[in-house]
Amino acid sequence: MKSLSEINFNNIKTVGIRVDFNIPIDENFKITDNTRILRARDTIAFVKDQNCKILLLSHFGRPKENYDEKFSFQTLIEQFSEVLDVKLNLLTYETFSKNGLSDFKNSNHQITLLENIRFFKGEIDNELTFSKLITDELDLYINEAFSASHRSHSSVYRMPKNITSVPGFNFEKEVLAIKEIKNSNKKKLAIIGGSKVSTKINTLLSLTNSCANIFIGGAMANNFLKFKGIAVGSSLLEEGSEKMIKQIYALAREKECEIHLPLDVVL
Ligand code: 3PG
Repeated sequence: MKSLSEINFNNIKTVGIRVDFNIPIDENFKITDNTRILRARDTIAFVKDQNCKILLLSHFGRPKENYDEKFSFQTLIEQFSEVLDVKLNLLTYETFSKNGLSDFKNSNHQITLLENIRFFKGEIDNELTFSKLITDELDLYINEAFSASHRSHSSVYRMPKNITSVPGFNFEKEVLAIKEIKNSNKKKLAIIGGSKVSTKINTLLSLTNSCANIFIGGAMANNFLKFKGIAVGSSLLEEGSEKMIKQIYALAREKECEIHLPLDVVL
């Protein structure tokens, strides 16, 4: 894996950085935890210091419509700028839909944030045409969105394949940490949340090989509790998860891995 620090920036003028600015906010659109923004700061600063023009790409929430004010970066961009201590310019939904990246290319701003990438159908559908609309205008693509890279969406799956691409500094650290855990002989435990068993089954099955204990949280735990005969009221459940849970318990038993469920819940 080539590292960002090994890139020769002589002929690189325009860089796309996929960040994960899917941050928690309160009812007044105030960011309540800026960890994810800070994690991208070193990569952004490094590329900025190479005097490159930067296009930041991120998703925010799971908007159903093309454009939805509730999920727009319009209300958050100033806070992002403050946390990063750089001036960010927004490439709006309308402008990108009409002109692609031309306004970004022609503007004098060094760092531009594209509006919530999930407003564009081509992102979730992992469309080649959509991905090229962006990467054809870039010289380098950096994925600094480790926390979103399990999706087969265009900005994390296809765009990095279109042009020269490297992971961001934080992404690299995450990969190293995983390697370290995988290679260590220490007894491991995993804590895993989320809402669906079906999207985690392969991870859970694989974790039974390397972990002595797995702690299940999030709405996914409801399915395990129900499987154990515990009442879950009207809590979120995934239909048809019993077969997968049975499979997880069977493999966990075989591998001597203990599955732990929440002890206290509110119905
Ligand atoms: C997250 O918050 O887990 C990541 O940003 C990914 O978001 P997603 O689950 O909506 O793809």
